[in-house]
Amino acid sequence: MRVIITKDYEEMSKEAARIVVNRLKEKPDLVLGLATGSTPLGLYRELVRIHKEEKLSFAEVRTFNLDEYIGLKPDDPASYHYFMFENLFNHIDVRKENIYIPDGLAKDPEKYCQWYEEQIEKAGGIDLQVVGIGRDGHIGFNEPGSSLASRTRVKTLDEQTIKDNARFFPRLEDVPRFAITMGVGTILEAKELLFLASGTEKSDIVAKAIEGPVTSLVTASIMQIHPKVIAVLDEEAASSLQRKDYYRYAEEQARRFEGGFV
Ligand code: PGA
Repeated sequence: MRVIITKDYEEMSKEAARIVVNRLKEKPDLVLGLATGSTPLGLYRELVRIHKEEKLSFAEVRTFNLDEYIGLKPDDPASYHYFMFENLFNHIDVRKENIYIPDGLAKDPEKYCQWYEEQIEKAGGIDLQVVGIGRDGHIGFNEPGSSLASRTRVKTLDEQTIKDNARFFPRLEDVPRFAITMGVGTILEAKELLFLASGTEKSDIVAKAIEGPVTSLVTASIMQIHPKVIAVLDEEAASSLQRKDYYRYAEEQARRFEGGFV
């Protein structure tokens, strides 16, 4: 795993954007896996800016989102559909038919999840998947105890997640109890993972995910067995890592060697 430690959230977002842009330049029809929540907001702002100011095109890109709440309409401001259009899709030239976000209103969720998996496969798999981490260690909505081989399916949200996400809803009771999420196994099949985390409230769980044992109790720890992961963390999120001096040193060396960014 390549661990890049940045000064703050702003720098984390710019660094992440640089990585996405580089991949997009190499492959204009990139299959991009996307995440929601507070963490990737700065990345999306930066991508919108680069699209507008530097004419970077997303016209050939296909996107797959990690998850969506069950029971929310796409135009519900708390839905991940709404979030993605509001914060990214409405401001870039991605084609609507190339956007995939799990349908939280699917009549037959099991069949739907199977279909979602098939669309990822048909697209040739995800080239680069953006992921965050919940305070309970989840990746996507794969709550502690999820099978590390799981596929896209319905998960019951953990109490911690419901509390953490209540800030996006009028009341705690309004937070859905279920979500459709790509499985840990689905995420693991992405060719590359771009892991973002920011803030001290994530530092302990980030250390467990990157340096602790691989365990279903911290589903994000599965990243340790993925061959290509770039973790971009701000100072605060990286603060509990045992090996942070090494990561800094290794990154300095890598940049000197490569003469630039990945
Ligand atoms: P956050 O959520 O970016 O809002 O902290 C991350 C997650 O729950 O995966």
